[in-house]
Amino acid sequence: MPPAAESHPPLRVALLGCGVVGTQVARLLTEQADDLASRVGARLELVGIAVRNAAAPRASSVDRSLLTEDAEGLVARADIVVEVMGGTEPARSLLLRAIDAGAAVVTANKALLAEDGPTLYKAADAAGVDIYFEAAVAGAIPIVRPVRESLAGDRVRRVLGIVNGTTNYVLDQMATTGMDLEEAVKEAQDLGYAEADPTADVEGYDAAAKAAILASLAFHTRVSLDDVAREGIMSVTAEDVAWAAQTGHVIKLLAIAELREGTSAGTSVGAAAGAPAGVSVRVHPALVPTSHPLANVRGSFNAVFVEAESAGELMFYGRGAGGAPTASAVLGDVVSAARHRVLGGKGPQESTYAELAILPASAAVTRYQVRLEVDDRPGVLAQVAHALAEHGVSIEAVRQPTAPGVSDVAEPGVAELLITTHAAPESALSATVAAVAGLEPVRTITSVLRVEGA
Ligand code: HSE
Repeated sequence: MPPAAESHPPLRVALLGCGVVGTQVARLLTEQADDLASRVGARLELVGIAVRNAAAPRASSVDRSLLTEDAEGLVARADIVVEVMGGTEPARSLLLRAIDAGAAVVTANKALLAEDGPTLYKAADAAGVDIYFEAAVAGAIPIVRPVRESLAGDRVRRVLGIVNGTTNYVLDQMATTGMDLEEAVKEAQDLGYAEADPTADVEGYDAAAKAAILASLAFHTRVSLDDVAREGIMSVTAEDVAWAAQTGHVIKLLAIAELREGTSAGTSVGAAAGAPAGVSVRVHPALVPTSHPLANVRGSFNAVFVEAESAGELMFYGRGAGGAPTASAVLGDVVSAARHRVLGGKGPQESTYAELAILPASAAVTRYQVRLEVDDRPGVLAQVAHALAEHGVSIEAVRQPTAPGVSDVAEPGVAELLITTHAAPESALSATVAAVAGLEPVRTITSVLRVEGA
């Protein structure tokens, strides 16, 4: 049983940032002070909130007497520093200063961790202090702790995540209303899901930072933002979304971290034979079968689907953003760090012993759906099939659908083909698509989408 709250001196908590999340962290620290004290065994005393402009308007719940523009001075007098300001600097310098001063740190800063996490982990290790970052990936959803701690005795094979609520909202609206991407982004902005400049979300940068963090934890290997192959959703059309529905899929922006065992050229996995071993980390739109649990993650919700050798399939679902949901994850970390201050012990360190190779994007192995318009005459399908065979890409299914309201192909003599492949390396698929595009009867390659989660 933890000691009574009064038996340990209060722990001083410094908050860096007072935006949407910081405001809620401050509120919960105050409103839940008694419960938190009982859970920790010491009172958590919010000693200051560092902001850029102390005179700026704030929510009425914020105690203005705590606001300070002297972040460095605040950090120097804290036992636990909570960073929810975002951006690389001054967040990195302030966290390093806090660590050097012996404070435990809690951060929600995915961009900083994906870019320069090892510097922070190393410093925390040297100082013997905790660094926690549950809120950096998928907001309220407990996923960092499960991967880092609960699954530490298992072998994770694959992580598939919907870790960006803005793009999930946009793609879901396109699927449910038929609106095009620009309209859906505009709607997301009007509702406050998307920023005025939605680049970080729609181009996949936000998801890529989260993918890097998850991959590092899942595979005990350093993965940085630069290691993540990234494609955003801007090329997804209303027609792609409609075709996805016709073929029993939904389009999702997925963050994928996957362990790839090496396969020898003689194995019988078709075009995947000869694939190198390592970790593939990527973010891109993908067709997800409607039967997969991730297909039912609607609106701005997030979910992370984990496949582990012994645990099997796990799914973590919830709100990936927003003040109170993200603050919930932050507070959980604060309680963990505070308990260590009271009871002794320390949270997990960075684990990178596996040092797996990070595979290039071209080595990712997945299934594809290729949509193309061709001359509708005998022998054309055979030519296309021959091009795929020549590049070692195996066909799973070919459809020449007539789908009123879905296909734009009205021109007589032109047929639309929908080819689904078996798993193939991206390099083989790219070469195949280039070869097919060059065939005389091929009018256009309308879209190439990966199929994941099948
Ligand atoms: N902008 C992110 C999202 C939330 O849309 O999910 C913060 O990571």
